[in-house]
Amino acid sequence: MIHYTQHIHAELQGLLGAAGADRAFLLMDETTARLCRPLLGTAADTLLPVVIPPTDAHKTLATLADVWRALVSGGASRRSLLVNLGGGMVTDLGGFAAATFKRGIRYINIPTTLLSMVDAAVGGKTGINFEGLKNEIGAFRDSEAVVIDTSFLRTLDTPNVLSGYAEMLKHALLRGGEMWLDHLRFDPSRPDLTRLQEMVRQSIDVKSSIVAEDPHERGLRKALNLGHTVGHAFESLALRRGQPVLHGYAVAWGLVCELYLSCRLAGFPEDAMRQAWNFVREHYGTFAFTCDDYPALLELMRHDKKNAGGAINFTLLEAPGHLRLDSHATDAQIEDMLDFYTNT
Ligand code: GLY
Repeated sequence: MIHYTQHIHAELQGLLGAAGADRAFLLMDETTARLCRPLLGTAADTLLPVVIPPTDAHKTLATLADVWRALVSGGASRRSLLVNLGGGMVTDLGGFAAATFKRGIRYINIPTTLLSMVDAAVGGKTGINFEGLKNEIGAFRDSEAVVIDTSFLRTLDTPNVLSGYAEMLKHALLRGGEMWLDHLRFDPSRPDLTRLQEMVRQSIDVKSSIVAEDPHERGLRKALNLGHTVGHAFESLALRRGQPVLHGYAVAWGLVCELYLSCRLAGFPEDAMRQAWNFVREHYGTFAFTCDDYPALLELMRHDKKNAGGAINFTLLEAPGHLRLDSHATDAQIEDMLDFYTNT
């Protein structure tokens, strides 16, 4: 259940009262403990704080074990509740801690970044990174509630707004029509926060309706992978180079590559693809690579966990709002897409 509020303090108090948990814990990273915990006020005073180090680098088994340990030492039982306050790293890892502790306890997500509001905190995917692979270990487990208070967006810098906006672009492409055109008209580099709040709601609606139809990604939910086959490969290559990029930037670059592929393989209109390219280049710049990187990028795309039987799986679009799931491209078609990216 998604709860929209401008009064997080009262909303949290209501949810805690309704949960009737014997003990409740508040998971934060060091950044959200400093910047976001104060917004909860006294509503969180009864929660036992658990603070973990920030960033994806700590979305590990070691951090997960620390959270389990904190739950044990705080006397958590099956009737306890975990409240996750943070970005995707905290909601993914906290969700997985809740999914696994005593075979599952309840949890509530309070996402504090745009990326986690419109994507990570919604839809019940939980997990950690393992052996250098992102979200390799995890489980589907629904939260009791997701509380969206866009006041947290005031704590974000522009790159983090842009990072979340890439997932909103993806949702707008999946919905098509006016929603897509509106997203191209918005300026995420100088965001109007009032307008952004309305768009967050619309974006979450797109994701929630897809997840409601296919919670375990047997079919339709694969639509949410649009832009991610190429995007994850860019993200991993950047990490290998020791120059990590924000997830949403990689998704934005991946989206335009996959729109090019959609033009070639699914009849996506060329002018709409070029509009998207111009938008992404203006706000996200470009990802630098050469043809020497093609084998590594192809290898990374092949290792994506959505693939089966060695073929590289893509979600493509015939037009904004018109999906073609489970598409495949040959190495030559993927190299042509990468050529287009580097030459444009
Ligand atoms: N982030 C994609 C999904 O939740 O399915």
